Amino acid sequence: MPEIRKRSLEKSNALWQEAQDKILSGCQLYSKGPETHIEGVSPIYIDHGKDAHVWDVDGNEYIDYDMGLGPILLGYQYKAVDDAVIAQLRRGMGYSLVAPEEVEYARLCVKHIPSAGKVRFLKTGSGATEAAVRIARAYTGRKHILRGEYHGWHEWTAAAESVRQGGLLAELRNYVHKFDYNDLDKVQEYFETYQGEVAAVITEAVENEAPKGDFLQQLKDLCHANGALLIFDEVVNGFRFSIGGAQQYFGVTPDISTFGKAAANGMPLSIVAGRKDIMEEVDKKIFISTTFGGDCLSLAAGIAVMKELESGEVNRAIWEKGQYLQDNFRRLAKDIDVPIDLKGYPCRMSLEYTDYEGKRDWLYNSIFMQESVKRGVLLGWNIFPCYTHTREDLDFTLNVFEDAMKVYRTALKSGHPETYMEGKPLKIVLG
Ligand SMILES: Cc1ncc(COP(=O)(O)O)c(C=O)c1O
Repeated sequence: MPEIRKRSLEKSNALWQEAQDKILSGCQLYSKGPETHIEGVSPIYIDHGKDAHVWDVDGNEYIDYDMGLGPILLGYQYKAVDDAVIAQLRRGMGYSLVAPEEVEYARLCVKHIPSAGKVRFLKTGSGATEAAVRIARAYTGRKHILRGEYHGWHEWTAAAESVRQGGLLAELRNYVHKFDYNDLDKVQEYFETYQGEVAAVITEAVENEAPKGDFLQQLKDLCHANGALLIFDEVVNGFRFSIGGAQQYFGVTPDISTFGKAAANGMPLSIVAGRKDIMEEVDKKIFISTTFGGDCLSLAAGIAVMKELESGEVNRAIWEKGQYLQDNFRRLAKDIDVPIDLKGYPCRMSLEYTDYEGKRDWLYNSIFMQESVKRGVLLGWNIFPCYTHTREDLDFTLNVFEDAMKVYRTALKSGHPETYMEGKPLKIVLG
């Protein structure tokens, strides 16, 4: 039985106090901040990581499953990537002219990403989705965008959210319309309402819910029948489902796609990859230009990641680890009788918590996360198996989950689950 660890969080908590005084919103990505964890129980600052393990600033060790919120595909301090970055560092981080690594990386992208006739490199997922939408609008000469879930912080996408609208022009909302995954009827309805005005549909090829039937192909056909482009946002799925992303896994090639997060195992690198004729048509019309787009350290990391993925072994192993975790999680949940599911595809999963009546509440997530982190397993937004999660890590995690499930069951059956919280329950945040 994994023991409840005696931990101090003193340094974490002190840093957070100062951060709130000096950093706007306290941190750079809302979903890394303490509101998405259990204040008082979860660590706030990580000092370092190795393979699938992280150590907080107070010296406590955890097995990590959020993996930097997606980027860490191979593991922390993965030697082949780190060596490539260090070798590049010794030659320079970026020069006054273009570096050959841009061409080498482009060659690999065009070879492995189905939608990559031509590519451009940026730093963030938001940068890539911004570029994709700009390209689609320039190509079609249309304004309206139909979008799925989260696509980043830039204006066109943030404007369609319901929170944090400060500083955004209200009229931007008129051009961005949200639909739920698998809701082809809604997409059709928008095409009718904004006939001849929709530039593109942007969506993740998949999140946790599987595509119904041939939803992805039908979506592509619907876009083309209406003169719009299909963009797959592969910022999370890219390199995780396969080297060519979820588009390769599902066999549906979009007109444009965006990659980010896992591209360089933690270094900031994103890609917009489009059909060659589209990219060539817009080339002289659009403005996408940024100093660090070709930073050599990230490109060196990106090239090293591609080389690791080329044989297919890394993705095969990641799927196998995920499957092992998912199968055993489901078996435990059934045996212990808790309404928690580890949903999704083995390379990208998330936990869904309800009570015995099927009702959701962030309190339920919080109880399970609290009991896991106390025993050395750090949970967050997703469960991302990485290449260096070992069988020992997974078995240890399953033992922790078994204990956490038992507390969860007792808490829910008590009728007063809130009394089981030792810290502040998490809040869901956007971004
Ligand atoms: C599907 C998707 N697209 C785009 C983004 C934005 O990426 P970034 O945070 O690197 O700007 C995210 C971030 O979580 C994402 O999940």
